Amino acid sequence: MLDYTQIASTPAEPEASSMIETFRAIGYSIETAVADIIDNSISAGAKNIWVDYDWKGPDTIFWVMDDGVGMAGDELIQAMRPGSISPLVERRKNDLGRFGLGLKTASFSQCRKFCLISKKDNSEVDFWSWDLDFVNQIKSWRLIKYCPEQAFFEEKLSQINSGTAVVWWDIDRLTKGTSVDSESSKSKFLETMDKVKKHLSMVFHRFLEDGLTIHFRDRKIKAWDPFMFGSEGLQPKPDTFLEQGNIRIKGFVLPHRSKISAEQYENGKGPKDSWTAHQGFYVYRNKRLLVAGDWLGLFKREVHYDLCRVLIDLPNNFDDDWQIDIKKSVARPPSKFKDQILSVAKEVRNQAVEVYRHKGKVLKRKLAVDDYSPFWEERVRHGKRFYRVNRAHPILEELLLKSGDLKKDIEKVIQFIEETIPVPLITLQESEDEKPHAQPFEGIDHISMKETMRKLYSSFLDKGFSPDRAKSRILNTEPYNFYPEYIEFLSDE
Ligand SMILES: Nc1ncnc2c1ncn2[C@@H]1O[C@H](COP(=O)(O)OP(=O)(O)O)[C@@H](O)[C@H]1O
Ligand SMILES: [Mg+2]
Repeated sequence: MLDYTQIASTPAEPEASSMIETFRAIGYSIETAVADIIDNSISAGAKNIWVDYDWKGPDTIFWVMDDGVGMAGDELIQAMRPGSISPLVERRKNDLGRFGLGLKTASFSQCRKFCLISKKDNSEVDFWSWDLDFVNQIKSWRLIKYCPEQAFFEEKLSQINSGTAVVWWDIDRLTKGTSVDSESSKSKFLETMDKVKKHLSMVFHRFLEDGLTIHFRDRKIKAWDPFMFGSEGLQPKPDTFLEQGNIRIKGFVLPHRSKISAEQYENGKGPKDSWTAHQGFYVYRNKRLLVAGDWLGLFKREVHYDLCRVLIDLPNNFDDDWQIDIKKSVARPPSKFKDQILSVAKEVRNQAVEVYRHKGKVLKRKLAVDDYSPFWEERVRHGKRFYRVNRAHPILEELLLKSGDLKKDIEKVIQFIEETIPVPLITLQESEDEKPHAQPFEGIDHISMKETMRKLYSSFLDKGFSPDRAKSRILNTEPYNFYPEYIEFLSDE
């Protein structure tokens, strides 16, 4: 340990304005920023939270108000200080805070000015604001005694015993370059607000289910449950516990589209409006959802895993282990748990594929009367094995038919591929490498495959095939036989 009394020192405080600019660059979206503000309301014991705005183009104000315990005097100033509580301080069990920064970083990520106006039980309303323009001017960390629409917020707070409002204005990230009178500005703004609302319905769904009310303007936000609890055909898997029961992992195979109503199916697409975007892990810290549908780098998103969602429940004292970030939107499993998490997830994923493909498979069994059309065929030439591209494969047949003058050239290229295919290398790799060879189109996007599948389907129909017969041909054609799940949607596209 150094003896600091013997060593010279000099102050080197952060330069206020540049530090705040740094805060602005943390990378919140407005959804994650608002969620971070609401975390504070929940930690303050709020039963009601009001999210509201007054659209005025660049002069728009946006606020989150709660009926939590509120703050006054020094407490309020302390809350406005960047780093008000060290991340090393142990938090109450139901505290959603993390670095003592959220209020400031989340607000500054969206606006240049914000006010914290608050009232404790039986005390006066108090407020302070951060104003980036003022900080830039005086180059020092100083709050101003100002609140936009002060009378309005005082009035609002007078209607509750205690509570707090965070008011954002000069919301440049959202309203710069807009105009009050522009319809397109307004509709873009409203679209963003809708995104915020959907995000909150997901992130706080457990709180909403347990009685918290979040009012978004004049409507109450409804919880969006990623696991469609209570729906027919849902398959919850058993719990797996880690770290002496502190961490819970639970897989869910969501119901197949045919088991649920069209409305439920739409709802299942969630705030990201896509089943595929919503597959993956759902990491909760206490009741708060941090990560919503992400394979945490362990797997790729693929459409046939659409029905797979895996819950991970963490308490709030594992933040370091799981690398919870400032925005509370990233978590990474510590390597010591990786194997267990992988094994739970793999099992659920496999079951989810089964359910996803079930309908397609039934169709395949029902329809499969055609001969199989592989893309490659094994042949013998001069006593030696040889792999030949199947010229009768419908995709190739069609191409050759349409190719006109190019037919000879295409034939030549196919021959080149056949003659140079590195069979010895493939054989060697297959026997030495533990990694299994991917099935056709595994792990890449399926757009081109689906497109050719659709084209093939309509060309079969043009040839006078019945829809069932056309499907049956496709189900017996490589590589479509690997993806029977796409078949059932062919006719309704
Ligand atoms: N709505 C609120 N009601 C009561 N206290 C609040 C509210 N918002 C913020 N605070 C206080 O300000 C502190 C700092 O908040 P914040 O910057 O979000 O950091 P953190 O949530 O990580 O503690 C909180 O710990 C809390 O004491
Ligand atoms: Mg916070």
